[in-house]
Amino acid sequence: MKILGIESSCDETGVAIYDENKGVLAHALHSQVALHARFGGVVPELASRDHVNYLTPLVDAVLKEAGTGLNELDGIAYTAGPGLIGALLVGACFAKSLGFSLKIPTLGVHHLEAHVLVAQLDSPELAYPFIALLVSGGHTKLILVRGLGDYESLGDTLDDAVGEAFDKTAKLMGIPYPGGAQLAALADGCIKSPYTFPRPMTQKPGLDFSFSGLKTQALITWNASLKDNQAKAHIASAFQEAIIDTLIIKCLRAVKQTGCLSLVVAGGVGANSALRVKLKASMQALHGTVVFPRLEYCTDNGVMIAYTGFLHMARGEKDADLGVHVKARWPFCDDVG
Ligand code: KG4
Ligand code: ZN
Repeated sequence: MKILGIESSCDETGVAIYDENKGVLAHALHSQVALHARFGGVVPELASRDHVNYLTPLVDAVLKEAGTGLNELDGIAYTAGPGLIGALLVGACFAKSLGFSLKIPTLGVHHLEAHVLVAQLDSPELAYPFIALLVSGGHTKLILVRGLGDYESLGDTLDDAVGEAFDKTAKLMGIPYPGGAQLAALADGCIKSPYTFPRPMTQKPGLDFSFSGLKTQALITWNASLKDNQAKAHIASAFQEAIIDTLIIKCLRAVKQTGCLSLVVAGGVGANSALRVKLKASMQALHGTVVFPRLEYCTDNGVMIAYTGFLHMARGEKDADLGVHVKARWPFCDDVG
């Protein structure tokens, strides 16, 4: 079974082909970061139009790289939500029209489920059940993954997502959009920060998160500082340490609560190198394991959609009709913490 995967939920056009026997045959990505940078955030209409421009050339490129003809595809998976409605519509319309013309099934995939499951690709030893820490630009969740399609929400953010908090904190110190990775690089380069920020909601029981207060703390500290490069690095470091400690405390709590010793970190913030190092050490101390997808599979990509589409299509699942049904909001599992 060969599945073409299409991701277009936000500001990245991702396309990939997954083969049941050979794994990922090819994948390609076009990032719109440069397009949106001067606006300080994603402009939805520009995102949609850019997906229109790049989808066809990217599909051509992956077919060529995979040495696969359109007639060899067995199905097409696309991101059906959550995300920007226009951007989702572009990918879904493309996938459904192509599927219709090739007379093959299509399937709308949940973006967050795809972020979680892609970890299996490089870690075939990863067995169910496992805990997933999903940390992206729009979501921060702890999930118990019992099997394909069997997910339980353990905790959620009450306000900002981690990636969002990184991006907003970067922005308030004048770091251009999307500043999360740059803020992390500044933090990694800082030897010792004079500041210590709180670890929100770690004193209370439970697995929910809240990150908007940290952003405010960063703003207050920034306004009281000399607003120079050193202050930027000091604040970045205090901010990142607080976030990482908080995430680790909650992950270990989730391990204790569920008795599940295997953890997957999914989503764009999973690219954070300090988080990778510290969480690995913390899980090892508990004789547990933590799996981080390779960096290019942490941020949005077509591989995760092709792979998740394959898993579901292998069970016979497919879109019920030719209608285009995408959802800007689409709960992954019940959002009760
Ligand atoms: O999963 P993703 O690519 O897109 C969403 O579905 O949201 O995640 C993007 C988020 C952005 O907020 C970005 O700033 C953040 O991931 N991010 C990072 C790092 N690299 C990307 N945050 C912290 N440290 C990083 N190294
Ligand atoms: Zn994502």
